Amino acid sequence: MQREINDLRALIRHHEHKYYIENQPEISDAKFDVLMRQLEALEEASDTPIPPDSPTQRVGGGAVLGTRIPHRNPMLSLNNSYDKQELREFAERVRRLLEDAPVEYITELKIDGLGVSLIYENGVFTRGLTRGDGEYGEDITDNLRTIRSVPLRLVDTETALPPVLEVRGEVFIPKHLLNDINVQREAEAEPPFANPRNAAAGSLRLQDASITASRPLDIFIYTLNYAEGVEVATHTASLKLMKHWGLKCNPHTACHKSIDDVQHYYEQWVTERHDLPYETDGVVVKVNQFSQQRELGATSKYPRWAIAYKFDAQQAITTIKDIEVQVGRTGVLTPVAILEPVLLAGATITNATLHNEQEIQTKDIRIGDRIVLERAGDVIPKIVEVLTAERTGNEKLFGLPDECPVCNTAVQRTEDEVAVRCVNMACVAQLKRRIAHYASRNALQIEGLGPATIDQLVDKELVRDVADLYALEVEPLSKLERMGVPSARNLVHQIEHSKTAPVEKVLFGLGIFHVGETVAELLIERFLSLDALSTATLEEIESVDGIGPQIAESVVNFFSQNKPLIDKLRKADLQCFTVAADATRTEASMMTDSFFSGKTFVVTGSLEGMTRTEASKEIKTRGGKVTSSVTSKTDYLIAGEGAGSKYAKAEELGIPILTEADFFEKL
Ligand code: IVH
Repeated sequence: MQREINDLRALIRHHEHKYYIENQPEISDAKFDVLMRQLEALEEASDTPIPPDSPTQRVGGGAVLGTRIPHRNPMLSLNNSYDKQELREFAERVRRLLEDAPVEYITELKIDGLGVSLIYENGVFTRGLTRGDGEYGEDITDNLRTIRSVPLRLVDTETALPPVLEVRGEVFIPKHLLNDINVQREAEAEPPFANPRNAAAGSLRLQDASITASRPLDIFIYTLNYAEGVEVATHTASLKLMKHWGLKCNPHTACHKSIDDVQHYYEQWVTERHDLPYETDGVVVKVNQFSQQRELGATSKYPRWAIAYKFDAQQAITTIKDIEVQVGRTGVLTPVAILEPVLLAGATITNATLHNEQEIQTKDIRIGDRIVLERAGDVIPKIVEVLTAERTGNEKLFGLPDECPVCNTAVQRTEDEVAVRCVNMACVAQLKRRIAHYASRNALQIEGLGPATIDQLVDKELVRDVADLYALEVEPLSKLERMGVPSARNLVHQIEHSKTAPVEKVLFGLGIFHVGETVAELLIERFLSLDALSTATLEEIESVDGIGPQIAESVVNFFSQNKPLIDKLRKADLQCFTVAADATRTEASMMTDSFFSGKTFVVTGSLEGMTRTEASKEIKTRGGKVTSSVTSKTDYLIAGEGAGSKYAKAEELGIPILTEADFFEKL
């Protein structure tokens, strides 16, 4: 069996490399999943412990996030240059210090993410650090392991793997995926990430690696920092070698004999960078020969052999023609600036959100103002400056109205909230947004139910709440503008199909204030069905780990005010009412007679027989609660191999400790 396991691991590593590093998959995702599941099954059946570099071990492990660890040598930053002249000055300095020796430059894209260091011992990924203050980094090994393009084991090539290898690179989030993350964050009432760099940084420093695993992080390696016993003469050769070992390096590098060629490379990317799927903020120019790099050395902050040649910030100047008010799903009134259309970073921008009244006041934004608009990648354009010197005196001040612009209900302004809200639940603007949310990709995923259709459905009073969607028929639908019978049929089919959605998606889709995807999952994990959740008390909801009083209050309010809607959904035959109810019964019977029921556990260290996530699941399905830190409320600590500070804390507080064997026995 061990032979089979080894072969399977090698095969999966090969396909991971093809998919995540070369972008040239050889098999379908489904086939890949089958291989992974086969390996998981074999590993589970085998008595041999699973090594940390097995492809199944991306989430789990034992390192403690956040430990400060010294870098082998400082992780320096790069000096910046912003124009041709500064680039020339850099080249001139290099020429002088190298006493006119011929110099070859290599150019790379400057990836806008987070610098990290990866350490491999005998080809196995053992440790990953942030840049930190340059001298000390933070241990983020567990989080880096979840990135599929970080090989857990390197490929042995003709250049044998060094016993110790340290490479450095940049972790980033693809541009188009940032938007998805922000939509989710907004639904969960968390502030959106301003740019892909913040998103990458935030994701890498999460305490829970399973959340990092859900973020689409990627990496490019750009420095071979230390390779015991390996000799390479140039940066180009080191990149080639790293690629052979299976590391992911950016393909857009070039070699130049003159600084004019470097300038040319830069100019090419000033425009072409917008077509790249990741954010770049400049070009990095490096002296190619390592001997010359050593000769040039570094200041305390920057190497003298490299420079970042930055792209101009993506800004444009335009005029605010008007400010309109949009009413969101929860009734919040958002001011939106209607702009004189302007080209910015490859897209025509016609409006920009002003977020709230406070923002308008702080920036003193007026209708008619000339403004500076900035756009970082695919991030929503924002107004960074008002050109007050250009004011003519005809600019108009703006304030949010006292009435909802759609339903004319008086708005509510609360002291603790910056938001101004329309409190009329029947407001058609809110209803339209609620339906759009219910149908959205992360909720019920009803394809073909776009804003134009929703507008008509609500305006023609065919739909008064989300449950009405299930009563729609082909004939009246096909009479809508831009619809026709085939699209109407398809829409009815899609709506019908949405009845099979899991209960947590339905809960998220209801658009309860403060209940985003993660909160919905947590609530369903504990209450299992909408019925159970709707009758839960404030205290019961608040006792769920990760749920605060604000969320609990919002949930209780929603269910007390929306009984008819829930009944209507039940009558529409949504499967979550029957499936979840069955689950409730089985779970309930398990919960009452289990050792775990009603107790709070912390799992630490690495277990041999299962991952910590699996252990948590086992506990939860038996009615127990799993938290991340040991407190006086903890009933038991389950301690695997390498348990550290949590073990000490449990001993200190006198909390009983279960070994893995004890735990299995209880299971
Ligand atoms: S080389 C001695 N190459 O930019 C410094 N850095 O602003 C060696 N970065 O800290 C760094 N892309 O995190 C290098 N192709 C690239 C890069 C790159 C992005 C980051 C890196 C560095 C920061 C400096």
